[in-house]
Amino acid sequence: MITILGIESSCDDTSAAVIRDGVILSNVIASQVVHERYGGVVPELASRAHQQNIIPVVHDALKQAEVSKEEISAVAFTRGPGLLGSLLVGTSFAKGFSSALNIPMIEVNHLQAHVMAHFIKEHKSDHNQPHFPFLCLLVSGGNSQIILVKSYDNMEIIGKTIDDAAGEAFDKCAKVMGLGYPGGPVVDRLAKMGDPDRFTFSKPRIDGYDYSFSGLKTSFLYFLRDELKMDSDFIEKHKNDLCASLQKTIVDILMDKLFKASEELGIKEVAVAGGVSANSGLRNAFEEYSNKYGWKIHIPKFAYTTDNAAMVAISGYYKYLEKDFATYDVAPYARVSI
Ligand code: KG4
Repeated sequence: MITILGIESSCDDTSAAVIRDGVILSNVIASQVVHERYGGVVPELASRAHQQNIIPVVHDALKQAEVSKEEISAVAFTRGPGLLGSLLVGTSFAKGFSSALNIPMIEVNHLQAHVMAHFIKEHKSDHNQPHFPFLCLLVSGGNSQIILVKSYDNMEIIGKTIDDAAGEAFDKCAKVMGLGYPGGPVVDRLAKMGDPDRFTFSKPRIDGYDYSFSGLKTSFLYFLRDELKMDSDFIEKHKNDLCASLQKTIVDILMDKLFKASEELGIKEVAVAGGVSANSGLRNAFEEYSNKYGWKIHIPKFAYTTDNAAMVAISGYYKYLEKDFATYDVAPYARVSI
């Protein structure tokens, strides 16, 4: 029996989770509200909040899992990428926990962990995990990538954004409409009441499987600026249609390249991960492509779309099987690829 405690602290969520033989036992997430009034994450405040949260969050995760510290086989933690101060809290906690209990410590790449979330079993007889090779669209506030997943530890980025991430496009356009931060979930909610074909915004023309979202942001901004000159209530009057049309444009851009990759590589097993994978328009598009093109799709549970330690624990589980352990001189890294 292998029991892994996972720790995630790369940005503004402090999370701990317990996974036993690949099956989830608990996943506790403490989100930090302190950043809301600044319109974005403040790194120094994030690391202080992690310090306050980490012990109670781990305590809750063990309690919910009904597992004692002594039953943990190894502690897995996010080494990066992320905010250095935030990562330091999780890394230092993992070192202390590992040393006190004399158990191995396992470093996890945050981006790989998002992909690995698809291997979490809800119960012992859950066999819905993807088969290799598959494609994973990783879309969050900081990433928009198409990843070719060849095995648990062999992932290749075949397409990525050359400027803004998809989540940033949602958030920046939402900010222009005065929808607060992060605006992605608000756009999603309002889009449900709007007409996605009411307005059209420019789509990028980029080679290969790469993305670009900065042009869309500019086109959205200029469009609103022109309309507001004629009618100062334009945003208020058309909020739902604006959100629906914006969401459709972002989803179309994401799906076009993913479809191209799927066709050219002949891979019909396709997953989605990261914060933007909570978007209902994107989820619907996946269903549509599944019906139309016979894709076998993998859409994460909402709890695994944002940053969470369950994905770190499952990554740790597969690394444990390979005896891929970290040493005590391990330091977090802010920037790293898959
Ligand atoms: O992965 P994540 O929680 O954090 C990092 O980027 O690290 O992703 C957050 C991003 C934000 O840009 C947020 O606006 C977006 O995911 N997001 C959504 C939705 N839920 C979260 N975007 C569109 N629709 C949603 N339902």
